[in-house]
Amino acid sequence: MHKITVVGAGNVGATCAQLLALKELARQVVLVDVIEGVPQGKGLDQWESAPIEAFDTRVSGANDYGPAAGSELVVITAGIARKPGMSREDLLQTNAKIVRSVTEEVVRVAPSTILVLVTNPLDTMAYVAKQVSGFPRERVIGMAGVLDTARYRAFLAEELDVSVEDIQALVLGGHGDTMVPLVSYTTVSGIPVAQLLNRKRIAELVQRTRDGGAEIVRYLKTGSAYYAPAAAVVQMVEAIARDKKRILPCAAYLQGEYGLEGIFLGVPCKLGAGGLKEILEVELTAEERAALEKSAQAVRETIGLVQAVL
Ligand code: NAI
Ligand code: 2OP
Repeated sequence: MHKITVVGAGNVGATCAQLLALKELARQVVLVDVIEGVPQGKGLDQWESAPIEAFDTRVSGANDYGPAAGSELVVITAGIARKPGMSREDLLQTNAKIVRSVTEEVVRVAPSTILVLVTNPLDTMAYVAKQVSGFPRERVIGMAGVLDTARYRAFLAEELDVSVEDIQALVLGGHGDTMVPLVSYTTVSGIPVAQLLNRKRIAELVQRTRDGGAEIVRYLKTGSAYYAPAAAVVQMVEAIARDKKRILPCAAYLQGEYGLEGIFLGVPCKLGAGGLKEILEVELTAEERAALEKSAQAVRETIGLVQAVL
């Protein structure tokens, strides 16, 4: 790509920009933030690492959207993050206003861009960005499932003492306590995980995955996770920028898939040039379907709370 912009030069945004540059996914990476000097300073610092890391992506920062003009992809991480005791929903009203204003600015300077949403509560912020931008669903995608599956895969790899590369897994639903890790689709190089671990242990790891964000918040105390989230964003961006047609769990706007309509929810997506190329519908057990419906209901309720901001 020619230009990728990352809005929000905080923990997730700055880490994202660095990984995008290291992978040379665009000629230019622009960091935008409201804090004076921070995006400029972080952008320059990253660019100064280029001769050592051997990348030619020009990283820069700004407090306005001029330098973001014409971006082919914009990652939105702007907002406030969770502190101990806060749920993702606590962030709702503040972040909805931030995402609305950021989206308006982005649409003005980059009307053809693809938006990748990160700000929490993720599924609802993706909805806000879609409503405000008026973009088709192909160009508004939320990051959550890649992070949630990465956590699940990391825990399983540790438990089984195997390479993380050999764990395949799928986590559906909203990015929150109602997420739906699909045990029936979890394999170790094709071997169903149920053949390698007992039910009780799998259930414990599923629960740890659900609580994965909160576990990091408890350690950090002043913020939430950012290394794995940034890596997850960059995997999605790479799939789009390199037209890899990867199948990744992402928050996508549903138009009847899984019997759901008009909300963003985590589902298996094909990502490639242009953004979301396809949503894959997989078979679910009655229990998994009920869990997905419950998750959808939680997202619907949160969307209901931000209607005033739209
Ligand atoms: P952070 O506090 O380190 O960074 C947020 C940045 O956004 C700050 O630098 C702030 O100045 C900036 N910002 C605020 N209002 C802005 C505006 N109007 N325009 C431009 N920039 C603005 O937070 P962090 O850790 O980077 O997290 C960012 C967001 O991503 C949070 O909402 C967090 O909950 C969410 N998150 C979502 C994940 C997911 O799986 N979807 C995973 C990790 C974080
Ligand atoms: C996470 O899952 C806070 O949503 C963020 O780490």
